Amino acid sequence: MPNSPDDIICNCMQISRGEIIESILKMGATTVEQVGDLLEAGTVCGSCQDEIEEIISEAVK
Ligand code: FES
Repeated sequence: MPNSPDDIICNCMQISRGEIIESILKMGATTVEQVGDLLEAGTVCGSCQDEIEEIISEAVK
């Protein structure tokens, strides 16, 4: 399945791939922690943090 911006990456906070990419490109987040500060993604159960990490490395290249 292709990655869609509408995919929910963080189920706990209902944060989509698109919102995470936006926090990286528009708000300058470069780490999982910063994405968490901005969106609260990854701050509850933490199981989405690996995926956030992957989105960061794809978005910055
Ligand atoms: S799925 Fe993101 S913190 Fe639980």
